[in-house]
Amino acid sequence: MSHRIFNFSAGPAMLPTEVLEKSATALVDYQGKGFGIAEVSHRGKEFEAVNDEANTRCKQLLGLGDTHDVLFLQGGATMFFTLIPMNFLHTSADYLVGGEWSKKAVSAGKDVGAINVVATSEASNFDHSPASGEWKMSDKADYFHVCTNETVHGHRLPTWPKHPNLVVDASSEFMSRPHPVKDCAFVYGGAQKNLGPSGVVLAIVRKDLYPKQKKTLSKLWSFKDQAENKSMVNTPPTFGVYILLEIFRWLEVQGGLAAMEKRNATKAGLIYSVIDGSNGFYKGTVSNKEQRSHMNLTYKLPSEELTDEFIKTAAKSEMVGLKGYRTVGGIRASAYNAMPVEGCQALAQFMKDFASKKS
Ligand SMILES: Cc1ncc(COP(=O)(O)O)c(C=O)c1O
Repeated sequence: MSHRIFNFSAGPAMLPTEVLEKSATALVDYQGKGFGIAEVSHRGKEFEAVNDEANTRCKQLLGLGDTHDVLFLQGGATMFFTLIPMNFLHTSADYLVGGEWSKKAVSAGKDVGAINVVATSEASNFDHSPASGEWKMSDKADYFHVCTNETVHGHRLPTWPKHPNLVVDASSEFMSRPHPVKDCAFVYGGAQKNLGPSGVVLAIVRKDLYPKQKKTLSKLWSFKDQAENKSMVNTPPTFGVYILLEIFRWLEVQGGLAAMEKRNATKAGLIYSVIDGSNGFYKGTVSNKEQRSHMNLTYKLPSEELTDEFIKTAAKSEMVGLKGYRTVGGIRASAYNAMPVEGCQALAQFMKDFASKKS
């Protein structure tokens, strides 16, 4: 049995032990064949079967039919918020800015063309996402880009907005709850939070976008070409895709995305209730409680010294990865799908004990 501790890292992040163990076996000896899955051609029958099954299971989990393609590509979410305007920005695009990641997406978009920021919460250091009533949408946007869970600031859009061409960066909440992906134009996410190792991006593209796609410099950057080639214009990140497949199988065993949503709400509730019941010792960094993330739980302690002591003492109790992002400070406990309820129970108890010793 492997030694595993509670790793609250924001990403790359904890993966389910069962998935890692199965993947480790497949890395050395795939289905008793005497070679590992990372050692065979991506055009061979073994990897082709992995790719196809991962594709089918992904669609099943997200309730997708024939209207959308699933892509497993390399490059990271940053590459995707760069490629999306390269492919689809003709006149102008609308962007909601609620945190660091949506701000970075705007900056990548501006390198390509005109971006309309419909609203931003930067003036309050992104302590919430602007309410839909404040959004100044344009009439003729090619698409509307949102980041539905801001990893750095710890807030999410409780429900995904509706828009005829909604583009979603779902990196830090992908498959943590059911998503209306079938109503979206494009959804993407780096795998390294909920889905697998870094190096793979899961992207879902609505097929009717292809005729609107601009001519890119290479087939590598064209979603249409990638879809036609089953994500294999060049060699895909084969082992990463294999781990994604194991994650999809694991998610089904857990009861699917609705079951994950319930479990994640329980986990987040354990931490938020300690924050709210701490008489101000812990202060949540998100001003709108409705928007508190169920993935990245952010809060502050009364001083930096206490924050450092909290992190060091937690590490001695086998809880790591708790340091907040440098622009926010404090604590960020990321409790993605793979974090067991016991991990959040342990952290909640630790927080209570720490507060009662120090207040
Ligand atoms: C919401 C969000 N978008 C984009 C990124 C960038 O991902 P990558 O480093 O894979 O480019 C991150 C990384 O943490 C993220 O959390």
